[in-house]
Amino acid sequence: MKALVLQGIKDLAVQEYDVPEIKPDEVLIHTAYAGICGTDKALYAGLPGSASAVPPIVLGHENSGVVAKVGDAVTNVKVGDRVTVDPNIYCGQCKYCRTSRPELCEHLDAVGVTRDGGFEEYFTAPAKVVYQVPDNVSLKAAAVVEPISCAMHGVDLLTTHPYQKALVLGDGFEGQLFAQILKARGIHEVTLAGRSDEKLANNREHFGVKTINTTKEEIPADAFDIVVEAVGLPQTQEQCLAAAAKGAQVLMFGVGNPDAKFSVNTYDVFKKQLTIQGAFINPYTFEDSIALLASGKVDPLPLFSHELAFNEVEDFVSGKLGKVSKAVVKVGGEEA
Ligand SMILES: NC(=O)c1ccc[n+]([C@@H]2O[C@H](COP(=O)([O-])OP(=O)(O)OC[C@H]3O[C@@H](n4cnc5c(N)ncnc54)[C@H](O)[C@@H]3O)[C@@H](O)[C@H]2O)c1
Ligand SMILES: [Zn+2]
Ligand SMILES: [Zn+2]
Repeated sequence: MKALVLQGIKDLAVQEYDVPEIKPDEVLIHTAYAGICGTDKALYAGLPGSASAVPPIVLGHENSGVVAKVGDAVTNVKVGDRVTVDPNIYCGQCKYCRTSRPELCEHLDAVGVTRDGGFEEYFTAPAKVVYQVPDNVSLKAAAVVEPISCAMHGVDLLTTHPYQKALVLGDGFEGQLFAQILKARGIHEVTLAGRSDEKLANNREHFGVKTINTTKEEIPADAFDIVVEAVGLPQTQEQCLAAAAKGAQVLMFGVGNPDAKFSVNTYDVFKKQLTIQGAFINPYTFEDSIALLASGKVDPLPLFSHELAFNEVEDFVSGKLGKVSKAVVKVGGEEA
């Protein structure tokens, strides 16, 4: 079978691999699609994602496919099932795993990061991270349950109410998903702020959100009860604190440069009684994300812009591809 292998820093090549063997508690998946995101850019450049990737490794932490084989101990899926995989495999033994915060696990393993993922025709995963995809959800949409689940986890960390006004700063794939999820969770007024007229118009049309193009318009100060930062720059982090109303919750979702700092007026934090909340990956959110796809309350397909072959992935991870709203790698396609 064909596998797109990260052989070293900034070194990707298509190789002929054997179909992997499974352990008794594992599932072999015939890959349909694999989503591709900024984490893959970091791993390609030799930087860590949620964990470090040690080459040679097959990336592809966002994925979907059809079950080709199951180990003897597997009870939750069978051959032929359409599935998607939560890449994060928690140890179950550390302090964080045993206090309902597995995302902070001390020994995190991840499909497509620390073990081979979806950029190959067949990959394996432990059954405990494999989820069935309902018939009315395409495998292309199912390939992005992981990024939907990261945004879901961020929202889970907030207290949401219908009266709130929400701002999402950042019109990348995650910011656009946040806008839909906040609406699905009952927030009546959601504003998406970003820099692309095209993406903002797409979100107004498809999802009925308000928009602000930050290159032309100011974000209102002290105006939003929920503020989601989905860029990861000091400048946008500071904009988010300025936009926060009294009593607001500010979700710091964007991943900053490890050395970057933003400045906070601590008097503002006191006077506005702000909650500043971080968010890391996607524990316990796959079921909810799949349900939102099945109900149609979240639809990622209008946000997709590129469908790549293995030999085009390097153009994406090296930044050569230009404007990308969301790219997926078509491995086997809808029939896998
Ligand atoms: N916390 C988590 O678990 C988690 C999970 C996934 C992604 N992330 C992070 O969330 C952020 C967004 O992810 P993404 O996949 O949407 O990335 P992306 O690259 O698709 O989107 C980033 C967006 O920010 C916009 N942007 C850049 N500078 C801006 C500015 N000054 N003002 C307004 N918008 C600006 C860009 O135009 C782009 O649309 C990234 O930092 C990513 O690493 C965090
Ligand atoms: Zn990702
Ligand atoms: Zn653990």
